[in-house]
Amino acid sequence: MLKIFTHATSESMAEIAEEMSVRQTRHFILLFSMGSQFDHLIVQQLAKLGVFCLVADPASTTADDVKKIAPAGIIVSGGPASVESEPPPFDEKIFDLGIPTLGVCLGFQMWAKHVGTPVTLGTKREFGVHTFHITKKDPLFFGVEKDTEVLQSHGDTIQESDKLTVLGSTDNAPVAAGRHEHLWGVQFHPEVTESKEGAKMYENFCVDICGITDRFPAENVAEKKVAELRESLGADKKVLIALSGGSDSSVVAYLLKTSIVQGESLNKSRLKGVYIRGIDRPDDEAFVKKYFEDQDWIELEIVDATDRFLEALKGKTAMKDKRLAMREIYKDVLEGKIKEFGAHFIAQGTLYTDLRESGEGHATGARIAEIKVHHNTGIEFSVPELRPLETEVKDSARAIGRQVGVPEDLLVRHPFPGPGLVVRIEGEITPEKLHTARAIDGIYIEELRKSNLYDTVWQAGAVVTASNHTESKGDDAGVGHVVALWAVWSVNGFTARAAEIPYEFLERVSRRITNEVREVAAVVYRISDKPPATIEWG
Ligand code: XMP
Repeated sequence: MLKIFTHATSESMAEIAEEMSVRQTRHFILLFSMGSQFDHLIVQQLAKLGVFCLVADPASTTADDVKKIAPAGIIVSGGPASVESEPPPFDEKIFDLGIPTLGVCLGFQMWAKHVGTPVTLGTKREFGVHTFHITKKDPLFFGVEKDTEVLQSHGDTIQESDKLTVLGSTDNAPVAAGRHEHLWGVQFHPEVTESKEGAKMYENFCVDICGITDRFPAENVAEKKVAELRESLGADKKVLIALSGGSDSSVVAYLLKTSIVQGESLNKSRLKGVYIRGIDRPDDEAFVKKYFEDQDWIELEIVDATDRFLEALKGKTAMKDKRLAMREIYKDVLEGKIKEFGAHFIAQGTLYTDLRESGEGHATGARIAEIKVHHNTGIEFSVPELRPLETEVKDSARAIGRQVGVPEDLLVRHPFPGPGLVVRIEGEITPEKLHTARAIDGIYIEELRKSNLYDTVWQAGAVVTASNHTESKGDDAGVGHVVALWAVWSVNGFTARAAEIPYEFLERVSRRITNEVREVAAVVYRISDKPPATIEWG
């Protein structure tokens, strides 16, 4: 599926059409991601509204390309560039297409300058929560309080001019929101939770301004999936579900929960969840326990397959070999549990995108390549598979999850590679390295959550590198691993910026890791973007 739009070719247009049919919509918003740390939150806001948001590369997409794909609206996000001192690469003719456009922060400054409004270099960056006063009625602010809190984070300032109607101000920014014909702009970030009524502003933009009537019908789709599952399950069929603690398998579990209702009571004897420990992270297990242990509708079993994974991975260094070895164990464990439980079906959280990346999916005219081996595709089980999300993409699956009551903190967990910590350990996987990888990830993610930084980054991870470092712990000198922490800001993983995590936070995590994990001598933080680096180390 198209991860980022760069040009309107027949191939990219076929991929957009395919995604629109999966999402059951004819409308979409084109988001020019200018590199703001908050861009993934814009995508999440639109997903909650059921609006398809296609991400575009500002450096290569031209006005002609935009005209060809005809989005209902455009959002130009914030970013680290300055329109005055280092204007970002962008075809400004896009602002002249007459398509409703919302500029956020840098995006606002870009169109303001384009229409002839002065933008001046600020002397210092303004960051923090301010009160935004609406000074002029506008559809963007329908239903929004006249004085509302917003988060600002910008350097440059937009001046008043006759080219722009001022819609509102804050104490520090006389032009905090403005409009010029079909162009709207805000200096603040409506996508963050600190902007109290930001979600309403995105809804107003998509629905009232862009006229998006076609939104993903999550309620109907969820109902249909439940009805289909009920039909397959009849009155007594039993299901085994592989739970990972991530959003997709959790959504499937809740769909099954809604489906397996007998009279008034849910029947635990018909639904069993299996969580496989070994190449997972402590945080995954914690989430599975929190939501699936001691429930009256599902029986949970945690299977420790660490030794089996290690045995299968012994001596393997090539990534494809490691993935295939991991998939064998995954299948074997589940097969064993299918037999024990007497399951009639196995349920998995496989998405349409997983099938596509593994070389399956609908024939659309677009080229289908095998990008990577997914651990949850291409396995032949002894019982039929239930894959209620195989027609969905990540956001539509989440929207279905919201309809059937999946807790939000399960739905918005960071992505995690299917082959687990296998991709976070350099070289051969040994028991000691696996233990270290689990321990450092546990500390890192726990601290990110404690410091309220978890939701501000798109993904974070910890790697056991192949490097060693001399250490002196207590009276002893020796060597220990160098472990690398990373965190990124991104919209969809296709490109990413190294997240600017506070130094004190990194220092605290580093101290905890070297104190608590005996095998580690030193901690480093990766500051490279993607490209050139990928997000995962291995
Ligand atoms: P990269 O490393 O390619 O990662 O920049 C982009 C996103 O994909 C995830 N990723 C994987 N997911 N199996 C998966 O299921 C994999 O082998 C794999 N490798 C990378 C990565 O975590 C990031 O979110």
